[in-house]
Amino acid sequence: MQNQNILSFNQMEEKQYLLKVKDFFNNKPHTYFVETYGCQMNVRDSQTLKGMFEEMGYTESADRLSADAVIFNTCCVREGAEDRLLGNLGKLKSEKKKRPDMLVMICGCMMQEKGSLENIKKRFPFVDVVLGTHNTHQLPLLMFNALTKKEKQYSLFEKESSIVEDMPVLREKDVFAFINIMYGCNNFCSYCIVPYVRGRERSRKSEDIIKEAEHLALRGVKEITLLGQNVNSYGKNTLDITFPDLLRKLNQIDGLERIRFMTSHPKDLSDDLIKAMAECEKVCKYIHLPVQSGSNRILEKMNRKYSREDYLKIVEKLKKAMPDIAITTDIIVGFPGETDEDFQFTYDLYKEVCFNSAFTFIYSKRIGTPAAKMDGQVDSEKIKERMARLIALSEECSLKSNEIYLNKTYPVLVEGTAKKDETLLCGKTDHGRTVVFNGSLDKIGKIVNVKITKIKLNVLVGELEEE
Ligand code: SAH
Ligand code: SF4
Ligand code: F3S
Repeated sequence: MQNQNILSFNQMEEKQYLLKVKDFFNNKPHTYFVETYGCQMNVRDSQTLKGMFEEMGYTESADRLSADAVIFNTCCVREGAEDRLLGNLGKLKSEKKKRPDMLVMICGCMMQEKGSLENIKKRFPFVDVVLGTHNTHQLPLLMFNALTKKEKQYSLFEKESSIVEDMPVLREKDVFAFINIMYGCNNFCSYCIVPYVRGRERSRKSEDIIKEAEHLALRGVKEITLLGQNVNSYGKNTLDITFPDLLRKLNQIDGLERIRFMTSHPKDLSDDLIKAMAECEKVCKYIHLPVQSGSNRILEKMNRKYSREDYLKIVEKLKKAMPDIAITTDIIVGFPGETDEDFQFTYDLYKEVCFNSAFTFIYSKRIGTPAAKMDGQVDSEKIKERMARLIALSEECSLKSNEIYLNKTYPVLVEGTAKKDETLLCGKTDHGRTVVFNGSLDKIGKIVNVKITKIKLNVLVGELEEE
């Protein structure tokens, strides 16, 4: 056990550079654009980047090409995420030539990959600033140096150091908020790059998390989502409270209505967590519980540290404690050495659990991970076939698992208008299911009662109940 080293941004020298950059522009209007790839961690980190830009006097630009400062917050979990960045960087090249004062910057997970910086320097020499996942607080300092010295700034911390609290943050939505509860990952699943680019597991202090949640509730936030690569091991590296106890404390905050969390690793999901979820009325009856594979042989090669039987047991306990719980998952198809039989185990497990929905990924080889050196790359035709079967099954299960919500009335937190039909409202039930229904715009941001009248693929259709 160790105590986590915590620093406050307010007391760091780097903070002064927020003002120095602002002064550099001397009241001349200047705009920023943040492009975010990857998971919720990056979405949350981008809110910090935006918070810093705002304090440096920048305003948000509507598009990438006209901004005075552009930053790409990158992801490298699969190859596709990297390809998108490279394409978009290429498109900025001619704009940067026309406007040399424009700052082009990259940060995030991909920059922590071995050889990534060299690659950027070689292929995109016009990039002004590069920073990684452990030194976001250096952004204003690096920008100031780039602007005043007209020199490229590359700064990567190889290893995680302290947690930096009190960084500026711009949260766009008034009703929802992400709260980081921990950073990094210790699990080293054999296919995954995240532990290498995000460093070891570090938990924030529970009192800091609770203070942040209280502050958000006072500002009118109704729903918080607690973020971590493996929230179930929260507090394990410090002498702090457990994750279920953190939920119990957050459940007492006045004004907060809903508490969500992600992601849960099955190996660390305790009976106490199930108990806390069931007993805390604000904790949503929803869990994202990545299974990755249903084959014990593959799970072992993935270093997941649970068996299909363990997983099914957890699902059984969750459903017993919360009969209408929604369960979603992540699945990787085509892990090295995956046979037809292995895949069939995944297929059967999916059918047995009947997940509400799933993210299905084709295995992507990540250099530096143990799986990259494993034999038995799966043929791409085979992968396509397996994927098609899995997607057909997931659609069937999505319809079937949502049937329990039919003809019942649920509180729905209204998020906005529906993407496909702007005359309808859309929001989520406690179980994280999306509902579309008729209603006036003044309902946005409120919790209203909606009766579910129809089940469609990936969405429930409902009718607003009178107050
Ligand atoms: N910490 C989270 C998820 C992080 S990454 C967890 O453990 O669940 C999100 C998902 O990306 C993973 O659940 C996995 O399904 C997928 N993923 C990670 N590495 C991958 C790779 N190399 N190829 C394909 N999918 C991958
Ligand atoms: Fe990657 Fe596994 Fe950590 Fe999730 S738990 S981030 S899949 S190593
Ligand atoms: Fe991608 Fe980094 Fe998240 S690699 S999935 S942005 S932790």
